[in-house]
Amino acid sequence: MNYAHWIRHFELNRVHRTEPDWGVPFRMEEERRVALAKTLAEYQLGDGGGECRLIGFDAESARAVHPDAGKVIDLWFREEAEHSRLLGCALRRVRGEFLKTTFGFRWFNRIRRWFGAEFEMLVLLVVEIVSTGYYRLIQRHSGDAPIAAMCGLILRDEAGHIVFHRDRLGGKRSDWSKGWRAMAIRLLGVGCMSFLWLTHGRWLRVLGGSLDELRSEVRHETKKFIEALSTFRAKEMQKAPEPSYTHPSTTR
Ligand SMILES: [Fe+2]
Ligand SMILES: [Fe+2]
Repeated sequence: MNYAHWIRHFELNRVHRTEPDWGVPFRMEEERRVALAKTLAEYQLGDGGGECRLIGFDAESARAVHPDAGKVIDLWFREEAEHSRLLGCALRRVRGEFLKTTFGFRWFNRIRRWFGAEFEMLVLLVVEIVSTGYYRLIQRHSGDAPIAAMCGLILRDEAGHIVFHRDRLGGKRSDWSKGWRAMAIRLLGVGCMSFLWLTHGRWLRVLGGSLDELRSEVRHETKKFIEALSTFRAKEMQKAPEPSYTHPSTTR
């Protein structure tokens, strides 16, 4: 993996960001305001709120795979913390209440801790794919310009994070774009999307979103990711150096 490229990417992505105009007068039907406040409160906690770092029991080993790995991981999480800040602004705008924890968030963190950093990063990738669908729904249906602009910023970052995971997984010995590994990504995606709909569906429905819409976004993003991973990996394999074996007959 090209760590220098990712350090540059994260540094560059910090600039040229237009803060949503939170001062624009806010008008929204009460039922929609409450639904938006509820769903954004959970996302404010889940997307960069709480412990914003790798928390798997072996997190240090994931940071030690390369001298720059820790720095790249920190820069990635710094963008997640920025998402939480932006969502906090949106939550104040809709007069929502900040959450310190939820049942789902506690379990999410437990799973991340128990199964280690590799699985944690895979789960975070899937969450990012599913969240892309979520933010598109909010962007389309919130009916509020600053909140839609915030979704645009977060979507831009998440697109980069998904490519970051493509590079990370594409360089691994095992091919994550094929067989049971690709199936595992798809199944985790379905599980994560179902959980999202189970917990946020009632609020997203009030805003005008639907399960079909979320499903189609998540399906599209998952397919795109697996195809991109397969193409990236094929290119990486071509770059791999030839074994330095020389047939004895050619050395005579
Ligand atoms: Fe995020
Ligand atoms: Fe992300």
